[in-house]
Amino acid sequence: MSEMKERFLKDYKKPAFEIENVELVFELDEDMSLVTNSMNFKKIDANEKNLELDSIDLELVELWLNDLQLDDTRYIYKDEKLTILNVPSSFKIKIKNKIYPQNNTELEGLYKSGDIFCTQNEPEGFRRITPYLDRPDVMSVFTTTVIADKEKYPVLLSNGNKMQCHDSFDGRHGVTWVDPHKKPSYLFALVAGDLGSISDEYITASGERVELNIYCDLGNESKCYHAMQSLKESMFWDEQKYGREYDLEIYNIVAVDSFNMGAMENKGLNIFNSAYVLADADTASDANFMGIQSVIAHEYFHNWTGNRITCRDWFQLTLKEGLTVFRDQCFSADLNSAEVQRIEDVKSLRERQFVEDASPTRHPIQPKSYISMNNFYTATVYEKGAEVIRMVHTLLGEENYRKATDLYFESFDGQAVTTDDFLWAMSKASGINLDAFKLWYHQSSTPTLEVKEEFEAGHYTLKLKQVVSDAVDGSKQLPYFYPLKMALLDAKGEEKVSKILTISNEYEEFVFEGFDTKPILSINRDFSAPIIVEQESPDFLFLMKHDKNSFVQYESAQKFATATLEAMMQGEAIDESFVEAYGHLLDLERDLSYKALLLELPTVSSLMQRQKEVDFEIIYDAKEKLEKHLAREFQEKLLALYNEHHYPKSETIDALNMGQRSLKNRVLKLLSTLESPKIVELTKKQYKESLSMSDRVVALDILENGDAKEAQVAFVDFYEKYKDETLVMNKYFALLASSMREGVLQRVELLQEDEVYDAKVPNLVRSLIGSFSRNYKYFHAKDGSGYKFVAKKIIEIDSINAQMASGLAGAFKIYNRMNKTNKELMQRELENILSVDTLSKNVYEIISKIIK
Ligand code: PHE
Ligand code: ZN
Repeated sequence: MSEMKERFLKDYKKPAFEIENVELVFELDEDMSLVTNSMNFKKIDANEKNLELDSIDLELVELWLNDLQLDDTRYIYKDEKLTILNVPSSFKIKIKNKIYPQNNTELEGLYKSGDIFCTQNEPEGFRRITPYLDRPDVMSVFTTTVIADKEKYPVLLSNGNKMQCHDSFDGRHGVTWVDPHKKPSYLFALVAGDLGSISDEYITASGERVELNIYCDLGNESKCYHAMQSLKESMFWDEQKYGREYDLEIYNIVAVDSFNMGAMENKGLNIFNSAYVLADADTASDANFMGIQSVIAHEYFHNWTGNRITCRDWFQLTLKEGLTVFRDQCFSADLNSAEVQRIEDVKSLRERQFVEDASPTRHPIQPKSYISMNNFYTATVYEKGAEVIRMVHTLLGEENYRKATDLYFESFDGQAVTTDDFLWAMSKASGINLDAFKLWYHQSSTPTLEVKEEFEAGHYTLKLKQVVSDAVDGSKQLPYFYPLKMALLDAKGEEKVSKILTISNEYEEFVFEGFDTKPILSINRDFSAPIIVEQESPDFLFLMKHDKNSFVQYESAQKFATATLEAMMQGEAIDESFVEAYGHLLDLERDLSYKALLLELPTVSSLMQRQKEVDFEIIYDAKEKLEKHLAREFQEKLLALYNEHHYPKSETIDALNMGQRSLKNRVLKLLSTLESPKIVELTKKQYKESLSMSDRVVALDILENGDAKEAQVAFVDFYEKYKDETLVMNKYFALLASSMREGVLQRVELLQEDEVYDAKVPNLVRSLIGSFSRNYKYFHAKDGSGYKFVAKKIIEIDSINAQMASGLAGAFKIYNRMNKTNKELMQRELENILSVDTLSKNVYEIISKIIK
């Protein structure tokens, strides 16, 4: 049970030793790899007698202290610690150890993705490579030599600049890399393989030339150009917006198929899930292209926010992640449509983070404790973390924010720091006191703001009440401090007042004078704070027609639709005034991507979050009914919109073409609810003729949820065409697992036997099993079959890759909010999982929190 130990932020202690430099030699082989690790230590805490190194599953070969080889009376290797007894104040340690990358299915430490050796060390993977002080506040200079068979592994990479190449007679070669920047072990990386690549260069603002390379499996080189373009755009943007330049001679990116997450910012050697590098018009959707741009930027931006300035301990993770997500969101907004970007960001926050923040696994963006750190790479730490930085940006204003980030970089470059250090810089440079703001780092749950309005004799009064729920442990939480963007509009939609209010107390009152008639309130503009706004009698209809703030306009359309659907869920008839308003949206002359968002009905997840007791069936029913009604009512208009914007031969990835695709696909999807032969024909035609993967995937999805025969034909065609393209096969599995058609579970079970499927590859597991667990209709089937299947998979996958399994376990987060029938069925499976005695700490932590 020592594995299940909970770690607490309050127990943080400074490291007792520093490591002045590290020299690593890797001798890579098919059955075993040998690591030689030489480190120079200095004692910081004179009272510390022993050196305790982190070390998981390592086979020690030799251990040296200075010039003395140690026998096992001088060290203890137990419970993931290698303790070297009685060390002097300054000394050298040399360790030789064996590892087995080819057997590593956890994909942490050194492992093989297909034929490529690669590493993943954040947060605690390095201890699976060699014994080390594997914590982010121990920073050192690394020199790395990689030796391997020259024919099989012509490309040998590590962090920093390339220093030396050596050939030997036995067909092996070696390359030495030196990284001059001090870094923690989690940023260490190594790659060896027979790789294809594309190269380019970037000249920094101060005139330094940087060599840029993107490596991938041979044959995929032509799919790397969008990633390269995005990298150069990111480098330029960081110079312009933050004054930050790149700091090495070379920047390498390697794409691998087996990766637990999206990508990793290792110094000078980013390793990416190939889904965030490879794209061309034939295989990637528009969303894939956008995703690549933002993840490439995200990892690049980490060079300053994460690598140059890193985290003191893992509780500070949001220091680098929240800030870097905020930076990549702003980058995407600058390069594309800012209004669409903001809405997409908020949508994803609500879909994932709000759900998490209402669940038993909820936690502050700076958690107080963890059992497995891997479980804290969450939407809360990342996305809510980014919202918190955005609020700082709003409170300070652009100019002060830039001064403050300059001060942050100047003060903490080369150090491992805390979120308090960040806030110190923000406050110091701007003169704004942020003490009250800190609660955002330490409390969990999404706060609600209750809004009341009064109007009397020209005085308009805004009465606000913050409602903050209890923490997970039942303790009371306090009201927050935040910026609230608002405006008061006259009957024509003109802004009479436009302000950023500061909210800090449980009750707030603001009075505005000089109105003839009651103004209309536009609140939480741009989603200035990550809160839930509840308004007594909001003017949705007016705002969705007239508000110039595109976020509130969108939000009002969503809220109106939500109110309409909720009334239907209570058995009421369709509100015709909503239908009329929807017709108005169809006529709007706006950016097409934005318009596509306006026309989207609220997601099942957003409606579910508002239910007291969750029941997906009535949500699906109401949505289906409303969609059918809208499609029937506006059939002609919708068809006209489709025809106007459908260009099957266009494969250009630009705002106009992507906008056209997203609008006409939204329209087609709505029309498909009519189940008319004409629309089926249109869909088939789109599948056959369109050059864009976005178009084809939408067509497939529509066919899959319609006529079974047509779907079968299309899916066979798709499979034959793309069975060798693993990234496209992810779409294939995801579409089938998300289907509303009868018998999905049986098909998912069968698909596991498909020769393309591999339970060791996280992308494929997420596409098939993950998608099924988000298929509310079948995951929550009232016979319990969905729960049973996913629970079984969690147990199976846990023994392959614990991180992947605990990701899947998240599907049960909604447990305590389910209706009685579903809850009982879920409980049985949760208990089943917990009864497995080899359960990983990752899955244990998630499931035990859910069931408590
Ligand atoms: N640090 C990575 C990022 O956010 C995410 C990551 C975490 C990747 C852990 C792998 C493992 O960019
Ligand atoms: Zn990150």
